[in-house]
Amino acid sequence: MTQAQPFLRLDAVSKRYGGRAELAVEGVSADIREGEFVSLLGPSGSGKTTTLMMIAGFELPSEGRIMLSGSDIVGIPAHRRNFGMVFQNYALFPHMTAFENVAYPLRLRKQPSSRIDEKVKRYLDMVGLARFASRRPAELSGGQQQRVALARALVFEPTVVLMDEPLGALDKNLREQMQIEIKELQKKLGITLIYVTHDQSEAMTMSDRIAVFNNGRIEQIAAPLEIYRRPETRFVGEFVGESNMIEGRVGDATERRVETEIGEIEYGPDSAFGAGMPVFAMIRPELITLAEKLPPRNGTQLTVTRTIHFGDRVSVEGTTVGGTMLRFRASGREAAVCATGRQVNVAWRSDDVHILARGQ
Ligand SMILES: Nc1ncnc2c1ncn2[C@@H]1O[C@H](COP(=O)(O)OP(=O)(O)OP(=O)(O)O)[C@@H](O)[C@H]1O
Ligand SMILES: [Mg+2]
Repeated sequence: MTQAQPFLRLDAVSKRYGGRAELAVEGVSADIREGEFVSLLGPSGSGKTTTLMMIAGFELPSEGRIMLSGSDIVGIPAHRRNFGMVFQNYALFPHMTAFENVAYPLRLRKQPSSRIDEKVKRYLDMVGLARFASRRPAELSGGQQQRVALARALVFEPTVVLMDEPLGALDKNLREQMQIEIKELQKKLGITLIYVTHDQSEAMTMSDRIAVFNNGRIEQIAAPLEIYRRPETRFVGEFVGESNMIEGRVGDATERRVETEIGEIEYGPDSAFGAGMPVFAMIRPELITLAEKLPPRNGTQLTVTRTIHFGDRVSVEGTTVGGTMLRFRASGREAAVCATGRQVNVAWRSDDVHILARGQ
């Protein structure tokens, strides 16, 4: 498996649904490597399902090409693409047992029954449902049904698997357990997996790369930590995790300083911005800490306006004299210091400040 070769390529793909003025998906391009786990993450209506449906072959792109190993697959009908699929409304066959549901793709492919028997058992076992083979969907819990759907999508060993919010119906514990199971299966079987979710922590923990969707476009596609630490747009920075976006202008570019309402903020070494450019200085709340004294730079005084206790930590909001709101985290032990109305000093490290362009 060569990692450099583009395996699945979306080339300027757009989709306009019949009779609609606006594009549901607009100029989406991405190269997905073989064996890669890519999440499509974004708010409701941002074009994630539409993109997945076009990859699946259930919707035709209005423009652009979808290439698999170098050939255009747009003309190939869904059932001949040989992709595994777990869609939210792509339900199990209610009249069939779990076994027969999982066997279905193999029967469709006319595999010999001894082989079907062996493979269905193996895949039901893999998703922990060996004992439930003879039950019908109505006799299974929601999580068990989703695991049957997972086994059905994987049993014919497709090279590409598409999943649209496959864990949407599950409680938090089962959801987390299934996240681990899916990720392990994907790695073990070397599957190329495209996974739609609007749950950012799910995307962060499972993916090799995340494509962040907004208004039918990909705003950024990168590794989870890259997305988190160096978002390219304000939308990405605010959609993934919590953030403080402080408006300013680059002052001295060689010294890497931004002039803002709360004073000069120094930023990390990997950004390249010219003097005078309008920017946001982004600082994640967990990278701001309480300080004994007000530091000369990279810090400010805040009046605490709100605290939210999460048990293990406290989320604190405060405003500067000039009215800029900053959010930071405190430990349970620091909670008393950060009571509403108190004045506190906070500080951060310049390396933890990320600069991004701000439109005029
Ligand atoms: N069959 C359809 N006909 C017309 N418009 C559609 C159709 N399906 C989706 N749309 C529109 O296309 C846009 C993108 O929808 P899509 O289903 O791809 O969003 P999504 O990112 O999957 O959202 P969600 O997180 O809510 O599932 C939306 O504005 C939606 O209303
Ligand atoms: Mg959707």
